[in-house]
Amino acid sequence: MTNLFRKKNIQDLLEESKETSKGMKRTLGAGSLIALGIGAIIGAGLFVRTAAASAEHAGPAVTLGFIIAAMGCAFAGLCYAEFSSTIPISGSAYTYSYATMGELVAWIIGWDLILEYAVGAATVGIAWSEYLNNLLVNVLHISAIPYQWCHSPFLTSLEGVHGIINLPALFIILVLSLLLIKGTKESALINNLIVIMKVAIVLLIIFIGWQFINPANHTPYIPVATTYVDPHGVSKSFGGIMGVLGAAGVVFFAFIGFDAVSTAAQEAKNPKRDMPIGILGSLAICTVLYILFAHVLTGVATTEDFRTEGKEASVVFVISKYMTGYSWLASFVTVAILAGFSSVILVLLLGQSRVFYSMSKDGLLPFSLSTLHPTFKTPYKANIMIFLIVGFFAAFVPGDIVGDMSSIGTLFAFILVCAGVIILRKTDPDMPRQFKTPLVPLVPILGILFCLAMIAGLGWTNWLRLIVWLAIGLVIYFVYSKKNSKMNKTESDPS
Ligand code: ALA
Repeated sequence: MTNLFRKKNIQDLLEESKETSKGMKRTLGAGSLIALGIGAIIGAGLFVRTAAASAEHAGPAVTLGFIIAAMGCAFAGLCYAEFSSTIPISGSAYTYSYATMGELVAWIIGWDLILEYAVGAATVGIAWSEYLNNLLVNVLHISAIPYQWCHSPFLTSLEGVHGIINLPALFIILVLSLLLIKGTKESALINNLIVIMKVAIVLLIIFIGWQFINPANHTPYIPVATTYVDPHGVSKSFGGIMGVLGAAGVVFFAFIGFDAVSTAAQEAKNPKRDMPIGILGSLAICTVLYILFAHVLTGVATTEDFRTEGKEASVVFVISKYMTGYSWLASFVTVAILAGFSSVILVLLLGQSRVFYSMSKDGLLPFSLSTLHPTFKTPYKANIMIFLIVGFFAAFVPGDIVGDMSSIGTLFAFILVCAGVIILRKTDPDMPRQFKTPLVPLVPILGILFCLAMIAGLGWTNWLRLIVWLAIGLVIYFVYSKKNSKMNKTESDPS
Protein backbone atom coordinates (compact mmCIF):
# COMPACT_ATOMS: atom_id res chain seq x y z
CA MET A 1 0.00 0.00 0.00
CA THR A 2 1.32 3.42 -0.83
CA ASN A 3 2.16 5.48 2.15
CA LEU A 4 0.32 8.79 2.28
CA PHE A 5 2.95 10.17 4.60
CA ARG A 6 6.01 9.22 2.56
CA LYS A 7 8.53 12.02 2.67
CA LYS A 8 11.14 13.44 0.38
CA ASN A 9 14.63 13.00 1.67
CA ILE A 10 16.01 16.26 3.01
CA GLN A 11 19.53 15.41 1.87
CA ASP A 12 18.26 14.90 -1.71
CA LEU A 13 16.46 18.24 -1.51
CA LEU A 14 19.58 19.99 -0.32
CA GLU A 15 21.49 18.41 -3.23
CA GLU A 16 18.75 19.63 -5.61
CA SER A 17 19.00 23.02 -4.00
CA LYS A 18 22.74 23.11 -4.64
CA GLU A 19 22.08 22.06 -8.25
CA THR A 20 19.46 24.74 -8.89
CA SER A 21 21.44 27.43 -7.16
CA LYS A 22 24.50 26.75 -9.28
CA GLY A 23 25.34 30.00 -10.95
CA MET A 24 23.06 31.94 -8.64
CA LYS A 25 25.01 34.58 -6.87
CA ARG A 26 24.43 35.28 -3.23
CA THR A 27 23.85 38.97 -3.69
CA LEU A 28 20.83 39.84 -1.58
CA GLY A 29 21.42 41.50 1.77
CA ALA A 30 18.79 42.23 4.42
CA GLY A 31 17.85 45.55 2.75
CA SER A 32 17.22 43.99 -0.66
CA LEU A 33 15.21 41.19 0.93
CA ILE A 34 13.02 43.75 2.70
CA ALA A 35 12.53 45.58 -0.62
CA LEU A 36 11.63 42.28 -2.28
CA GLY A 37 9.05 41.66 0.43
CA ILE A 38 7.50 45.12 0.22
CA GLY A 39 7.36 44.84 -3.58
CA ALA A 40 5.34 41.65 -3.27
CA ILE A 41 3.20 42.76 -0.33
CA ILE A 42 1.72 46.24 -0.95
CA GLY A 43 -1.03 45.95 -3.54
CA ALA A 44 -4.75 45.39 -3.89
CA GLY A 45 -5.09 44.37 -0.26
CA LEU A 46 -4.32 47.91 0.81
CA PHE A 47 -5.68 49.92 -2.09
CA VAL A 48 -8.91 47.98 -2.66
CA ARG A 49 -9.69 45.48 0.11
CA THR A 50 -9.26 48.01 2.97
CA ALA A 51 -12.35 49.88 1.80
CA ALA A 52 -14.26 46.60 1.36
CA ALA A 53 -13.33 45.43 4.87
CA SER A 54 -14.45 48.76 6.28
CA ALA A 55 -17.72 48.71 4.32
CA GLU A 56 -18.67 45.12 5.02
CA HIS A 57 -17.14 44.31 8.41
CA ALA A 58 -15.68 46.92 10.69
CA GLY A 59 -16.03 50.57 9.63
CA PRO A 60 -13.01 52.47 11.03
CA ALA A 61 -12.00 49.50 13.18
CA VAL A 62 -10.46 47.97 10.05
CA THR A 63 -7.22 49.31 11.60
CA LEU A 64 -7.66 46.76 14.42
CA GLY A 65 -8.18 44.14 11.72
CA PHE A 66 -4.78 45.07 10.29
CA ILE A 67 -3.18 44.62 13.72
CA ILE A 68 -4.70 41.14 14.15
CA ALA A 69 -3.73 40.10 10.61
CA ALA A 70 -0.19 41.38 11.15
CA MET A 71 0.18 39.40 14.37
CA GLY A 72 -1.01 36.22 12.66
CA CYS A 73 1.50 36.85 9.85
CA ALA A 74 4.34 37.58 12.27
CA PHE A 75 3.85 34.28 14.13
CA ALA A 76 3.47 32.35 10.89
CA GLY A 77 6.40 34.31 9.42
CA LEU A 78 8.68 33.10 12.21
CA CYS A 79 7.66 29.54 11.35
CA TYR A 80 8.24 30.17 7.63
CA ALA A 81 11.69 31.50 8.46
CA GLU A 82 12.64 28.25 10.21
CA PHE A 83 11.49 26.17 7.25
CA SER A 84 13.09 28.36 4.63
CA SER A 85 16.44 28.47 6.40
CA THR A 86 16.42 24.68 6.84
CA ILE A 87 15.50 23.86 3.26
CA PRO A 88 16.51 26.86 1.16
CA ILE A 89 14.84 25.82 -2.08
CA SER A 90 12.09 27.33 -4.18
CA GLY A 91 8.61 25.85 -4.11
CA SER A 92 7.67 27.53 -0.87
CA ALA A 93 5.63 25.76 1.80
CA TYR A 94 4.90 22.89 -0.59
CA THR A 95 8.52 21.77 -0.73
CA TYR A 96 9.08 22.15 3.01
CA SER A 97 6.06 20.09 3.85
CA TYR A 98 6.97 17.31 1.40
CA ALA A 99 10.20 16.78 3.29
CA THR A 100 8.72 17.10 6.72
CA MET A 101 5.07 16.12 6.87
CA GLY A 102 4.78 13.81 3.89
CA GLU A 103 3.12 13.67 0.51
CA LEU A 104 -0.55 14.07 1.41
CA VAL A 105 0.02 17.21 3.50
CA ALA A 106 2.36 18.53 0.79
CA TRP A 107 -0.34 17.97 -1.82
CA ILE A 108 -2.94 19.75 0.34
CA ILE A 109 -0.60 22.71 0.82
CA GLY A 110 0.37 22.79 -2.87
CA TRP A 111 -3.29 22.68 -3.88
CA ASP A 112 -4.06 25.35 -1.31
CA LEU A 113 -1.26 27.57 -2.57
CA ILE A 114 -3.22 27.86 -5.84
CA LEU A 115 -5.66 29.91 -3.80
CA GLU A 116 -2.85 32.07 -2.48
CA TYR A 117 -0.96 32.64 -5.73
CA ALA A 118 -3.30 32.04 -8.68
CA VAL A 119 -6.53 33.27 -7.12
CA GLY A 120 -4.54 36.06 -5.43
CA ALA A 121 -3.22 37.13 -8.85
CA ALA A 122 -6.79 37.18 -10.17
CA THR A 123 -7.81 39.43 -7.26
CA VAL A 124 -5.08 41.93 -8.04
CA GLY A 125 -5.93 41.71 -11.76
CA ILE A 126 -9.53 42.70 -10.99
CA ALA A 127 -8.28 45.58 -8.83
CA TRP A 128 -6.02 46.63 -11.73
CA SER A 129 -9.07 46.80 -13.95
CA GLU A 130 -10.81 49.20 -11.49
CA TYR A 131 -7.86 51.58 -11.53
CA LEU A 132 -7.48 51.31 -15.31
CA ASN A 133 -10.93 52.80 -15.68
CA ASN A 134 -9.83 55.55 -13.38
CA LEU A 135 -6.82 56.23 -15.54
CA LEU A 136 -8.99 56.43 -18.67
CA VAL A 137 -11.59 58.74 -17.17
CA ASN A 138 -9.80 60.90 -14.63
CA VAL A 139 -6.26 61.10 -15.96
CA LEU A 140 -6.55 60.68 -19.72
CA HIS A 141 -10.06 62.16 -19.86
CA ILE A 142 -11.39 59.61 -22.32
CA SER A 143 -14.42 57.41 -21.87
CA ALA A 144 -14.55 54.48 -19.46
CA ILE A 145 -14.75 50.86 -20.55
CA PRO A 146 -18.49 49.99 -20.47
CA TYR A 147 -19.50 48.35 -17.16
CA GLN A 148 -20.47 45.02 -18.74
CA TRP A 149 -17.00 44.53 -20.26
CA CYS A 150 -15.06 45.13 -17.06
CA HIS A 151 -17.16 43.25 -14.51
CA SER A 152 -18.02 39.68 -13.62
CA PRO A 153 -21.46 38.36 -14.62
CA PHE A 154 -22.27 38.19 -10.89
CA LEU A 155 -22.12 41.98 -10.52
CA THR A 156 -24.61 44.72 -11.30
CA SER A 157 -23.86 48.46 -11.33
CA LEU A 158 -25.72 51.03 -9.22
CA GLU A 159 -27.60 51.89 -12.46
CA GLY A 160 -28.65 48.26 -13.02
CA VAL A 161 -26.17 47.25 -15.79
CA HIS A 162 -25.12 43.57 -15.56
CA GLY A 163 -21.49 42.54 -15.94
CA ILE A 164 -20.49 40.02 -18.65
CA ILE A 165 -16.72 39.60 -18.48
CA ASN A 166 -13.80 41.51 -16.97
CA LEU A 167 -11.69 42.07 -20.08
CA PRO A 168 -9.03 44.44 -18.62
CA ALA A 169 -8.29 41.95 -15.81
CA LEU A 170 -7.94 39.17 -18.38
CA PHE A 171 -5.70 41.42 -20.49
CA ILE A 172 -3.20 42.25 -17.73
CA ILE A 173 -2.97 38.59 -16.70
CA LEU A 174 -2.33 37.63 -20.33
CA VAL A 175 0.39 40.25 -20.83
CA LEU A 176 2.20 39.30 -17.63
CA SER A 177 1.90 35.57 -18.37
CA LEU A 178 3.49 36.16 -21.78
CA LEU A 179 6.27 38.13 -20.12
CA LEU A 180 6.91 35.21 -17.79
CA ILE A 181 6.97 32.78 -20.69
CA LYS A 182 9.54 34.96 -22.37
CA GLY A 183 11.53 34.74 -19.18
CA THR A 184 11.38 38.31 -17.96
CA LYS A 185 12.24 38.41 -14.34
CA GLU A 186 11.58 41.67 -12.67
CA SER A 187 14.93 43.29 -12.23
CA ALA A 188 16.00 44.45 -8.80
CA LEU A 189 16.17 48.00 -10.14
CA ILE A 190 12.59 48.05 -11.39
CA ASN A 191 11.43 46.39 -8.19
CA ASN A 192 13.17 49.03 -6.10
CA LEU A 193 11.65 51.84 -8.16
CA ILE A 194 8.17 50.39 -7.76
CA VAL A 195 8.72 49.92 -4.03
CA ILE A 196 9.77 53.55 -3.66
CA MET A 197 6.73 54.69 -5.63
CA LYS A 198 4.33 52.54 -3.62
CA VAL A 199 5.72 53.63 -0.28
CA ALA A 200 5.72 57.26 -1.49
CA ILE A 201 2.01 57.25 -2.33
CA VAL A 202 1.11 55.58 0.95
CA LEU A 203 3.13 58.20 2.87
CA LEU A 204 1.70 61.09 0.82
CA ILE A 205 -1.85 59.92 1.46
CA ILE A 206 -1.13 59.54 5.18
CA PHE A 207 0.48 62.99 5.55
CA ILE A 208 -1.84 64.95 3.26
CA GLY A 209 -4.97 63.02 4.19
CA TRP A 210 -4.46 63.44 7.94
CA GLN A 211 -5.69 67.05 7.80
CA PHE A 212 -8.90 65.97 6.07
CA ILE A 213 -9.89 63.47 8.77
CA ASN A 214 -13.39 64.12 10.07
CA PRO A 215 -13.53 62.80 13.65
CA ALA A 216 -17.24 62.02 13.22
CA ASN A 217 -16.25 59.26 10.76
CA HIS A 218 -14.23 57.60 13.53
CA THR A 219 -17.11 57.59 16.01
CA PRO A 220 -17.85 55.01 17.24
CA TYR A 221 -14.47 53.51 16.42
CA ILE A 222 -15.77 49.96 16.72
CA PRO A 223 -19.34 49.91 15.37
CA VAL A 224 -22.02 48.13 17.38
CA ALA A 225 -22.33 44.47 16.34
CA THR A 226 -24.94 43.97 13.62
CA THR A 227 -25.09 42.32 10.18
CA TYR A 228 -24.46 43.72 6.72
CA VAL A 229 -26.01 42.10 3.67
CA ASP A 230 -23.55 42.33 0.76
CA PRO A 231 -24.55 42.84 -2.90
CA HIS A 232 -24.61 39.03 -3.42
CA GLY A 233 -27.21 38.72 -0.63
CA VAL A 234 -24.78 37.19 1.89
CA SER A 235 -25.10 38.36 5.53
CA LYS A 236 -21.80 39.32 7.14
CA SER A 237 -20.96 40.19 10.74
CA PHE A 238 -20.50 43.94 10.93
CA GLY A 239 -19.03 45.64 14.00
CA GLY A 240 -18.21 44.06 17.35
CA ILE A 241 -15.52 41.42 17.75
CA MET A 242 -16.73 39.24 14.86
CA GLY A 243 -16.79 42.25 12.56
CA VAL A 244 -13.19 43.10 13.47
CA LEU A 245 -12.12 39.48 12.91
CA GLY A 246 -13.95 39.48 9.56
CA ALA A 247 -12.09 42.66 8.58
CA ALA A 248 -8.83 41.01 9.67
CA GLY A 249 -9.58 38.04 7.41
CA VAL A 250 -10.28 40.34 4.46
CA VAL A 251 -7.24 42.61 4.89
CA PHE A 252 -5.04 39.61 5.59
CA PHE A 253 -4.85 39.58 1.79
CA ALA A 254 -2.77 42.75 2.06
CA PHE A 255 0.02 40.74 3.71
CA ILE A 256 0.06 37.87 1.25
CA GLY A 257 3.38 37.73 -0.52
CA PHE A 258 5.75 38.15 2.41
CA ASP A 259 6.54 34.47 2.04
CA ALA A 260 7.98 35.39 -1.38
CA VAL A 261 11.03 36.47 0.58
CA SER A 262 11.50 32.90 1.75
CA THR A 263 11.83 31.69 -1.84
CA ALA A 264 14.91 33.88 -2.30
CA ALA A 265 16.86 31.99 0.36
CA GLN A 266 19.28 30.68 -2.26
CA GLU A 267 20.23 34.19 -3.26
CA ALA A 268 20.63 35.59 0.25
CA LYS A 269 24.14 36.52 1.37
CA ASN A 270 23.61 35.31 4.90
CA PRO A 271 20.31 33.42 5.03
CA LYS A 272 20.55 32.66 8.72
CA ARG A 273 20.55 36.32 9.71
CA ASP A 274 18.94 37.95 6.68
CA MET A 275 15.90 35.73 6.04
CA PRO A 276 14.17 36.49 9.33
CA ILE A 277 15.12 40.17 8.99
CA GLY A 278 13.76 40.21 5.42
CA ILE A 279 10.51 38.45 6.32
CA LEU A 280 9.80 40.22 9.60
CA GLY A 281 11.23 43.59 8.51
CA SER A 282 9.01 43.87 5.46
CA LEU A 283 6.03 42.77 7.55
CA ALA A 284 6.76 45.37 10.24
CA ILE A 285 7.16 48.26 7.79
CA CYS A 286 3.98 47.33 5.92
CA THR A 287 2.01 46.94 9.15
CA VAL A 288 2.80 50.47 10.33
CA LEU A 289 2.01 51.92 6.90
CA TYR A 290 -1.24 49.94 6.65
CA ILE A 291 -2.58 50.98 10.04
CA LEU A 292 -1.90 54.68 9.43
CA PHE A 293 -3.27 54.49 5.89
CA ALA A 294 -6.48 52.76 7.00
CA HIS A 295 -6.89 55.30 9.80
CA VAL A 296 -6.73 58.15 7.28
CA LEU A 297 -8.93 56.49 4.64
CA THR A 298 -11.73 55.70 7.09
CA GLY A 299 -11.39 59.12 8.70
CA VAL A 300 -11.71 61.06 5.47
CA ALA A 301 -14.62 59.11 3.94
CA THR A 302 -17.65 57.42 5.46
CA THR A 303 -18.41 53.70 5.61
CA GLU A 304 -21.43 54.42 3.42
CA ASP A 305 -19.13 55.86 0.72
CA PHE A 306 -17.30 52.53 0.54
CA ARG A 307 -20.61 50.71 0.10
CA THR A 308 -21.73 52.89 -2.81
CA GLU A 309 -19.77 55.18 -5.18
CA GLY A 310 -16.45 54.61 -3.42
CA LYS A 311 -16.67 50.82 -3.71
CA GLU A 312 -14.29 50.74 -6.66
CA ALA A 313 -10.89 52.46 -6.93
CA SER A 314 -11.66 53.69 -3.43
CA VAL A 315 -8.41 55.55 -2.76
CA VAL A 316 -8.75 57.81 -5.79
CA PHE A 317 -12.44 58.24 -4.99
CA VAL A 318 -11.57 59.49 -1.50
CA ILE A 319 -8.96 61.93 -2.81
CA SER A 320 -11.23 63.28 -5.54
CA LYS A 321 -14.30 63.68 -3.33
CA TYR A 322 -12.81 64.95 -0.10
CA MET A 323 -9.26 66.17 -0.58
CA THR A 324 -9.85 69.32 -2.58
CA GLY A 325 -6.84 70.78 -4.34
CA TYR A 326 -5.05 67.45 -4.66
CA SER A 327 -6.16 66.21 -8.07
CA TRP A 328 -2.45 65.75 -9.00
CA LEU A 329 -2.23 63.24 -6.16
CA ALA A 330 -5.20 61.30 -7.56
CA SER A 331 -3.45 61.06 -10.96
CA PHE A 332 -0.11 60.07 -9.44
CA VAL A 333 -1.76 57.46 -7.24
CA THR A 334 -3.62 55.94 -10.22
CA VAL A 335 -0.46 55.52 -12.28
CA ALA A 336 1.61 54.26 -9.34
CA ILE A 337 -1.06 51.78 -8.32
CA LEU A 338 -1.31 50.36 -11.85
CA ALA A 339 2.47 49.80 -11.92
CA GLY A 340 2.48 48.48 -8.35
CA PHE A 341 -0.33 46.01 -9.02
CA SER A 342 1.45 44.71 -12.12
CA SER A 343 4.54 43.89 -10.09
CA VAL A 344 2.47 42.09 -7.43
CA ILE A 345 0.70 40.03 -10.11
CA LEU A 346 4.08 39.11 -11.61
CA VAL A 347 5.41 37.90 -8.24
CA LEU A 348 2.26 35.85 -7.60
CA LEU A 349 2.31 34.28 -11.09
CA LEU A 350 5.98 33.48 -10.67
CA GLY A 351 5.31 31.95 -7.23
CA GLN A 352 2.54 29.83 -8.75
CA SER A 353 4.74 28.62 -11.58
CA ARG A 354 7.46 27.59 -9.10
CA VAL A 355 4.94 25.56 -7.12
CA PHE A 356 3.47 23.90 -10.24
CA TYR A 357 6.97 23.23 -11.51
CA SER A 358 7.96 21.49 -8.27
CA MET A 359 4.70 19.53 -8.07
CA SER A 360 5.04 18.35 -11.64
CA LYS A 361 8.69 17.33 -11.17
CA ASP A 362 7.47 15.23 -8.25
CA GLY A 363 4.85 13.60 -10.48
CA LEU A 364 1.89 15.00 -8.53
CA LEU A 365 0.89 17.08 -11.55
CA PRO A 366 1.42 16.05 -15.21
CA PHE A 367 5.10 15.94 -16.08
CA SER A 368 4.60 18.14 -19.14
CA LEU A 369 4.06 21.11 -16.82
CA SER A 370 7.73 21.09 -15.98
CA THR A 371 9.03 20.88 -19.54
CA LEU A 372 10.99 23.94 -20.45
CA HIS A 373 10.50 26.03 -23.57
CA PRO A 374 13.22 25.18 -26.11
CA THR A 375 14.27 28.80 -26.59
CA PHE A 376 13.17 30.68 -23.49
CA LYS A 377 13.96 27.89 -21.01
CA THR A 378 10.86 28.71 -18.98
CA PRO A 379 8.13 26.26 -17.85
CA TYR A 380 5.82 27.66 -20.52
CA LYS A 381 3.20 24.93 -20.29
CA ALA A 382 2.83 25.62 -16.58
CA ASN A 383 2.52 29.31 -17.38
CA ILE A 384 -0.19 28.66 -19.97
CA MET A 385 -2.12 26.47 -17.55
CA ILE A 386 -1.78 29.13 -14.83
CA PHE A 387 -3.01 31.78 -17.26
CA LEU A 388 -6.11 29.68 -17.94
CA ILE A 389 -6.87 29.28 -14.23
CA VAL A 390 -6.11 32.87 -13.22
CA GLY A 391 -7.76 34.25 -16.35
CA PHE A 392 -10.96 32.34 -15.61
CA PHE A 393 -11.20 33.71 -12.07
CA ALA A 394 -10.22 37.25 -13.14
CA ALA A 395 -12.73 37.35 -16.00
CA PHE A 396 -15.76 35.85 -14.35
CA VAL A 397 -15.62 35.99 -10.54
CA PRO A 398 -16.13 39.17 -8.48
CA GLY A 399 -13.06 40.65 -6.74
CA ASP A 400 -14.42 40.30 -3.21
CA ILE A 401 -15.08 36.58 -3.67
CA VAL A 402 -11.63 35.78 -5.09
CA GLY A 403 -10.00 38.06 -2.49
CA ASP A 404 -11.62 36.22 0.41
CA MET A 405 -10.92 32.80 -1.16
CA SER A 406 -7.29 33.76 -1.43
CA SER A 407 -7.22 34.93 2.20
CA ILE A 408 -8.85 31.79 3.59
CA GLY A 409 -6.67 29.47 1.49
CA THR A 410 -3.49 31.18 2.62
CA LEU A 411 -4.62 31.21 6.25
CA PHE A 412 -5.13 27.47 6.03
CA ALA A 413 -1.68 26.96 4.50
CA PHE A 414 -0.15 29.07 7.30
CA ILE A 415 -1.83 26.86 9.91
CA LEU A 416 -0.22 23.80 8.35
CA VAL A 417 3.18 25.52 8.26
CA CYS A 418 2.89 26.46 11.96
CA ALA A 419 1.85 22.91 12.86
CA GLY A 420 4.74 21.63 10.77
CA VAL A 421 7.30 23.41 12.93
CA ILE A 422 5.94 21.80 16.09
CA ILE A 423 5.79 18.36 14.47
CA LEU A 424 9.29 18.61 13.07
CA ARG A 425 10.82 19.62 16.37
CA LYS A 426 9.45 16.34 17.77
CA THR A 427 10.13 14.00 14.85
CA ASP A 428 13.47 15.45 13.78
CA PRO A 429 14.94 17.35 16.71
CA ASP A 430 18.52 17.13 15.46
CA MET A 431 18.04 18.38 11.93
CA PRO A 432 20.35 21.37 11.38
CA ARG A 433 18.27 24.54 11.47
CA GLN A 434 19.94 27.76 10.47
CA PHE A 435 17.15 29.82 12.00
CA LYS A 436 15.01 28.56 14.86
CA THR A 437 11.51 29.82 15.57
CA PRO A 438 11.64 31.22 19.10
CA LEU A 439 9.45 29.89 21.93
CA VAL A 440 8.21 26.71 20.24
CA PRO A 441 5.42 25.59 20.70
CA LEU A 442 4.03 28.94 21.91
CA VAL A 443 4.72 30.95 18.73
CA PRO A 444 3.34 28.33 16.28
CA ILE A 445 0.30 27.79 18.52
CA LEU A 446 -0.38 31.54 18.59
CA GLY A 447 0.04 31.58 14.79
CA ILE A 448 -2.54 28.80 14.48
CA LEU A 449 -4.98 30.55 16.84
CA PHE A 450 -4.73 33.91 15.07
CA CYS A 451 -5.24 32.29 11.67
CA LEU A 452 -8.20 30.26 12.98
CA ALA A 453 -9.77 33.42 14.42
CA MET A 454 -9.52 35.13 11.03
CA ILE A 455 -10.96 32.08 9.29
CA ALA A 456 -13.85 32.24 11.77
CA GLY A 457 -14.36 35.92 10.93
CA LEU A 458 -14.57 35.22 7.20
CA GLY A 459 -17.91 33.45 7.65
CA TRP A 460 -19.53 30.26 6.49
CA THR A 461 -19.68 31.02 2.74
CA ASN A 462 -15.90 31.18 2.68
CA TRP A 463 -15.55 28.05 4.85
CA LEU A 464 -17.75 26.26 2.36
CA ARG A 465 -15.66 27.48 -0.59
CA LEU A 466 -12.48 26.27 1.13
CA ILE A 467 -13.99 22.87 1.93
CA VAL A 468 -15.18 22.40 -1.67
CA TRP A 469 -11.76 23.48 -2.97
CA LEU A 470 -9.94 21.02 -0.69
CA ALA A 471 -12.39 18.23 -1.56
CA ILE A 472 -11.73 18.74 -5.30
CA GLY A 473 -8.00 18.63 -4.51
CA LEU A 474 -8.31 15.36 -2.60
CA VAL A 475 -10.23 13.75 -5.46
CA ILE A 476 -7.45 14.74 -7.90
CA TYR A 477 -4.83 13.43 -5.47
CA PHE A 478 -6.43 10.02 -5.07
CA VAL A 479 -7.40 9.65 -8.73
CA TYR A 480 -4.20 10.95 -10.32
CA SER A 481 -1.35 12.23 -8.17
CA LYS A 482 -0.93 9.35 -5.73
CA LYS A 483 -0.55 6.92 -8.64
CA ASN A 484 1.82 9.09 -10.63
CA SER A 485 4.01 10.28 -7.78
CA LYS A 486 7.70 9.81 -8.38
CA MET A 487 7.93 8.45 -4.87
CA ASN A 488 6.20 5.28 -6.13
CA LYS A 489 9.37 4.48 -8.05
CA THR A 490 11.59 5.12 -5.06
CA GLU A 491 9.39 3.00 -2.83
CA SER A 492 9.38 -0.02 -5.15
CA ASP A 493 13.04 0.40 -5.92
CA PRO A 494 14.75 1.19 -2.65
CA SER A 495 18.23 1.20 -4.22
N1 ALA B 1 -0.49 41.45 -0.69
C1 ALA B 1 -0.75 41.55 -2.07
C2 ALA B 1 -1.76 42.59 -2.35
O1 ALA B 1 -2.26 43.19 -1.45
C3 ALA B 1 -1.16 40.24 -2.65
O2 ALA B 1 -2.03 42.84 -3.50
